[in-house]
Amino acid sequence: MKIDGQAYRSVWLDADDRWSVHVIDQTKLPWALEILRLTTRDEAAHAISSMQIRGAPLIGAVAAYGLCLALRADASTDAMERDAALLNATRPTAINLRWAVERMLTRLRNTPQADRVAVAYDEAGLIADEDAAQNETIGRHGLKLIEAAIRPGRRVNVLTHCNAGWLATVDWGTALSPIYTAFNAGIDIHVWVDETRPRNQGAALTAWELGKHGVPHTVVADNAGGHLMQHAQVDLIIVGADRVTRTGDVCNKIGTYLKALAARDNNVPFWVALPSSTIDWTVSDGVAEIPIEERSGAEVTDMTGRLADGTIATMRVVSADSPAANPAFDVTPARLVTGLITERGRCDATADGLLGLFPERR
Ligand code: MRU
Repeated sequence: MKIDGQAYRSVWLDADDRWSVHVIDQTKLPWALEILRLTTRDEAAHAISSMQIRGAPLIGAVAAYGLCLALRADASTDAMERDAALLNATRPTAINLRWAVERMLTRLRNTPQADRVAVAYDEAGLIADEDAAQNETIGRHGLKLIEAAIRPGRRVNVLTHCNAGWLATVDWGTALSPIYTAFNAGIDIHVWVDETRPRNQGAALTAWELGKHGVPHTVVADNAGGHLMQHAQVDLIIVGADRVTRTGDVCNKIGTYLKALAARDNNVPFWVALPSSTIDWTVSDGVAEIPIEERSGAEVTDMTGRLADGTIATMRVVSADSPAANPAFDVTPARLVTGLITERGRCDATADGLLGLFPERR
């Protein structure tokens, strides 16, 4: 997608050396566009754990490139297995991380040590390219939902939570891909952007990337969604996912579940967009089985913003003696999900629905 007319992906190789890895530092957005150059395994691991890069598909792609960087230092089998485990441990919930690292290992374990670096870069490149292509296809499948919501004389209002745009993937995004596709097709569309406390991925990232593409949008407090739905201001909801079970339960950014509950009470369609790398075929009960990342309470007690003089400042918004808890994800049970949008098309959020699209998993 484009930033001020220039095409970007969220991760790319250095054009000169062809081995170091560039990413956009998402902790600096929306105030500054800063590009990081990752040259070691530890820099890649830090980029993931500190959320300089985030979003399930992008975490997977950067972990794959992190393994490439690790192999440049030591391509022995012991080091490769150790480094893969280290990268796997950077964040616990998004299954794309484990999917990408396992895919890399499957190819590399059958590769002679001397060839591993070249093969690793080839595989990481495939992972990145496939993610971009799959997300573009998700956009075309999701477009039909937006077209179906068009009413004479009024714009289509879509609500989204967190950031499941191109910044969260290699390109296009998942939940935002149908929105970009609809906007590019000339559909009169407007997006309600949940701010997504505590880290504000909606306010800081989704609003920024929609704005850079020219898509009309409005940031709302997380608590506003139910009210907007009661007043017919939301035609459909599209969110992304960090992990979807084989039965269609959806794990996504904390607060997604509450939006699904409000959507059900107001008959608003609640769709989830995901590439197949987000499906965990080993898990059936999302609430019981998916590990939920617990992050620092400081993300709840503190907020970062730009002061009037342009300085970026972090300040505490909770009384000094109150502790805070910070579960980073929740699980929306499949019964609350209208359907799933994947690169192979749309399906019910059920085991049969997913197996219908992915029969090789039967
Ligand atoms: O903690 P984050 O910012 O990595 O969480 C991201 C989300 O929850 C996204 O909705 C999800 O990864 C889908 S990204 C296409």
